[in-house]
Amino acid sequence: MPELRQSIAQHYHQRTKYDPQTIAAKNKGLDWAKQPVPFKEYKIGSEFDLKPYIQEKPEVFTNNPESQWWQRLSRLLFCSYGLTAKMPSMGSAVYLRAAPSAGGLYPAEVYVVSRGTPFLPPGLYNYQCRSHSLMHYWESDVWQRLQSACLWHPALDSTQLAIIITAVFYRSEWRYEDRAYRRICLDSGHLLGNIELASAIADYRPHLIGGFVDEQVNELLYIDPVQEGAIAVTALADLLDIQQNLPTGPTALPSATETDYPEVPDGELLSYFHCSTQIQQGTIGKLNLPQVKPEKSLEDKYNFPFCQKISTVTTPIDWGKNLEELEFTILHRRSTRAYNGQNLTFEELKTLLDFTYQPQNYIDQGLDIHPDYFDLNLIETFIAVSGVEELETGCYYYAPQAQELRQIRFKNFRRELHFLCLGQELGRDAAVVVFHTADLKSSVAQYGDRVYRYLHMDAGHLGQRLNLAAVHLRLGVSGIGGFFDDQVNEVLGIPNEEAVLYVTTIGRPR
Ligand SMILES: Cc1cc2nc3c(=O)[nH]c(=O)nc-3n(C[C@H](O)[C@H](O)[C@H](O)COP(=O)(O)O)c2cc1C
Repeated sequence: MPELRQSIAQHYHQRTKYDPQTIAAKNKGLDWAKQPVPFKEYKIGSEFDLKPYIQEKPEVFTNNPESQWWQRLSRLLFCSYGLTAKMPSMGSAVYLRAAPSAGGLYPAEVYVVSRGTPFLPPGLYNYQCRSHSLMHYWESDVWQRLQSACLWHPALDSTQLAIIITAVFYRSEWRYEDRAYRRICLDSGHLLGNIELASAIADYRPHLIGGFVDEQVNELLYIDPVQEGAIAVTALADLLDIQQNLPTGPTALPSATETDYPEVPDGELLSYFHCSTQIQQGTIGKLNLPQVKPEKSLEDKYNFPFCQKISTVTTPIDWGKNLEELEFTILHRRSTRAYNGQNLTFEELKTLLDFTYQPQNYIDQGLDIHPDYFDLNLIETFIAVSGVEELETGCYYYAPQAQELRQIRFKNFRRELHFLCLGQELGRDAAVVVFHTADLKSSVAQYGDRVYRYLHMDAGHLGQRLNLAAVHLRLGVSGIGGFFDDQVNEVLGIPNEEAVLYVTTIGRPR
């Protein structure tokens, strides 16, 4: 019988694993002369300044519909990807943004497409976070082309604005080489998390569109597809316009599954793989499309016999009047650089889990109770507990439907977590370390190779919610994109078919 070849997504994942035996050889050092610049510049175009609107409280604009409209868009973009801190670095300054990014490299770019609203003329805009402005670099209407590129997704019928996230690959590749694709998608997921929550603050509803013909979206944006590629599209429904109160549509469509790929050399794998995850024009009719949005599965995936089960049901976070606390938290979020090793209370852990996985508990506060993910049924959560009062140390499976922790291994893993996170002290000193995982083989069987993007963006999106809950609770939090993949499963007892997508550390800041 011929050997069954893995799909390119599985191959990419395997090839980009960190392993204690080979990591030293892979670490070649950085070429500082080629350090990428994390901003795009436009030589021509007209600028729409969004700054005046974030400097004022919303009440100031109540009687002026035009200013009110601008303020909502300004807040949405600022809370999604605005510059929120300036850090001195080697004689100059580094700017940090509302969304975190692996290594602070910010591969994601944000574009706004307007169908033509009373205030924003039709065309294409790049969000310039340095000046908090929109650069109008293409003035013709491209909405129909966007609809066609997004395979006539129903949300684009009635909306007038869309946000497109692209990735400038080299920015992240410079440091992380082929493995950068994972971090690019995780970063984009964090950004999608901000877009979801900032939309609620500014009365928009983002409809996530993962199924689009990549080449058409890239052409529409006039980007060089070798350097930069579209990763996600969201149609932005204006919730103050009754006609835009839309039902949700499908978020994830499948691509092909490639098993007949050549030997791709190191350094070229990221580009090759990105192309393989694209939806090609004309292929979509031949694919097995899921017609409806995947229903939340009713059963949690793992239910280990005889394991201890602990309920995590708790009171939701109160985000304050008009979600003011949420906005404050988004704008003050930072990744923690060191923990002091002290415990979390069990109540704090329960609150983190409640905000991240139980959006239905936030209906009274005006948050989306079914925020769009690509397909959360594919993602599992495991938590290594090193220091939580009332909770035995060990590794737990978090069952989101049952809202309980199910213990799989008893042990204090601090020493091992230090090693698993490539010797980063964040792993050792955190009170809990959250692992998001997925069964790659069955995910590819459902959505083709494109699922690799979906999985990492969904994991990043969950990571952003964890970040914001932690910051609200005055805890420290940091994502970790570098870990010894296979050893995580071995050491913590996570089933082998679960590929580790992302790690989030949480603890008390030092
Ligand atoms: C996907 C991802 C992976 C990350 N990996 C690490 C990591 O391995 N180690 C670390 O110290 N910080 C990590 N970070 C945190 C970034 O370094 C941090 O987001 C960046 O420096 C910007 O700072 P800010 O989050 O405070 O805005 C990661 C962040 C993201 C989003």
